[in-house]
Amino acid sequence: MTTPPQIGRASAGLQTETATAPRIEIDARSGMPVGPRFWPRLLRGEVFRSNGAEFLRSNADEFGDLVYFQNFGVRVLQCNHPELIQEMLVRDAGHHHRGLVMQRSRMVLGEGLLTSEEPLHMRQRRLAQPAFHRERIAAYGAVIGEFARRMTGQWTEGGVVEVHGEMLLLALRIVGKTLFDTNVEQEVESIAESVDAFMGFLPLAFLPMSNLIQQLPLPLMRRIRRGQARLDALIYRMIAERRASPEDRGDLLSMLLTATDEESLEQGHAARMTDRQVRDECLTVLLAGHETTANALTFALWLLATHPEVQQRAAAEARQVLLDPSPGCMRAVSSEDYARLPYLGQIFAEAMRLYPPVWVTARTAAEEYLWRGIRVQRGTILIAPQYAVHRDARWHPEPDRFDPERFTVAAKAARPRLAYFPFAAGSRQCIGEGLAWMEGVLILATILADWELTPESGSPSALAVQPAITLRPAGPVRLVVRHRPMPGNR
Ligand code: HEM
Repeated sequence: MTTPPQIGRASAGLQTETATAPRIEIDARSGMPVGPRFWPRLLRGEVFRSNGAEFLRSNADEFGDLVYFQNFGVRVLQCNHPELIQEMLVRDAGHHHRGLVMQRSRMVLGEGLLTSEEPLHMRQRRLAQPAFHRERIAAYGAVIGEFARRMTGQWTEGGVVEVHGEMLLLALRIVGKTLFDTNVEQEVESIAESVDAFMGFLPLAFLPMSNLIQQLPLPLMRRIRRGQARLDALIYRMIAERRASPEDRGDLLSMLLTATDEESLEQGHAARMTDRQVRDECLTVLLAGHETTANALTFALWLLATHPEVQQRAAAEARQVLLDPSPGCMRAVSSEDYARLPYLGQIFAEAMRLYPPVWVTARTAAEEYLWRGIRVQRGTILIAPQYAVHRDARWHPEPDRFDPERFTVAAKAARPRLAYFPFAAGSRQCIGEGLAWMEGVLILATILADWELTPESGSPSALAVQPAITLRPAGPVRLVVRHRPMPGNR
């Protein structure tokens, strides 16, 4: 019997023994690891055209476990081996700041959990943590089940559903309700649009003088600012309403609004967070918490639709757990069902292996240091590419094949822990991981218990992806949905 990860338990953490040591080849002239050269790539137009995730994968294939290259003068060290990733994300975290994209994202996100540096980050993380504890997440199960059923309640027999759009709206409703006790029904469409605008920002982050470019009245920057204004209006409204009736509802918003700063307590006064600080944290969680989960769910649904035998087995598991014997229909899912849906956990895990919503995790060297004999200069960007490592045949044989059996307990134990790290690792590991697993498994169960999924006829056999700030489908993902007959009604 296999089990999905326990809620709240890190999926990736300390280093385990690895079967092979990292392969690192040093260029004798530069003293740096080998890697692709910038100018030939620029002249061939690849710097702008190439799919970033595939570029990092081909670097790993061609140059080994530590790759060095430059991008518009920015020095980049790419780590492709679980041992190096552990050193980068966990052991050497003290040498690093946030990566370039997150630093530049402060323009929109302010100083929230994703973008802030120590010691502010640790203080804010301690304040937010209780909202993500196992018991709290268990309480969110009912909300997830209810919203998922409301969504499928709109589906029609034989209809075509664009599942990426559906999953974005669903994940947004769930984050809004569970963490802010707010119904975002009125705003969902405009929030989704604002996020969409923000996701186009990645290519700008790497350009020289990106900070100046951000100030220019470019159409993309205008869209981002418009989106930001809409999100701000929603969040400041939420804050104002809650300050007006400040009873503790036990959600993240209450925690942020009632938290007092320890340092100020030591100085004899209890300073609360300003509205601006609360806004930064709320916006961060709202953005970080819904796109990623929605993308993972979309990829999982598409993989299920294109692998009918896996879908069959997954549906059987969901129906066995959710069949309500008396009325002969499916009951709503709850958090207690999570542990009884191990195969769905494996499917969600395998979807995030092939299509990790966060496809690369980055840090910036805050100071110069020596790493395995290599001089890491201040300002160097260090990256751990989930997309490339998750498709490395050393840890995941036949890496492009969808196979949920890779996530049985035995299969997981047989490979190094950081050969799979969709939620990263170390002190900045995803705070919402437990919630994401719960959402993934319970939403898949709700859908599969009642509906059979097939790709719309004429759909391409491979899914095109777009590596923006998150990895997302490049276009609409249309699936045909049909009711599964109730057992005994065949
Ligand atoms: C499948 C879904 C998700 C994936 C793949 C994912 C992935 C990640 C990753 C890789 C990081 C670390 C980034 C880094 O180290 O630079 C991260 C951080 C974060 N995630 Fe998630 N995430 C998911 C869902 C969620 C959810 C549901 C929430 C909240 C509701 C959330 C909130 C956050 C926050 C606030 C951070 C910043 C944590 C910190 O720096 O202390 N994420 N996520």
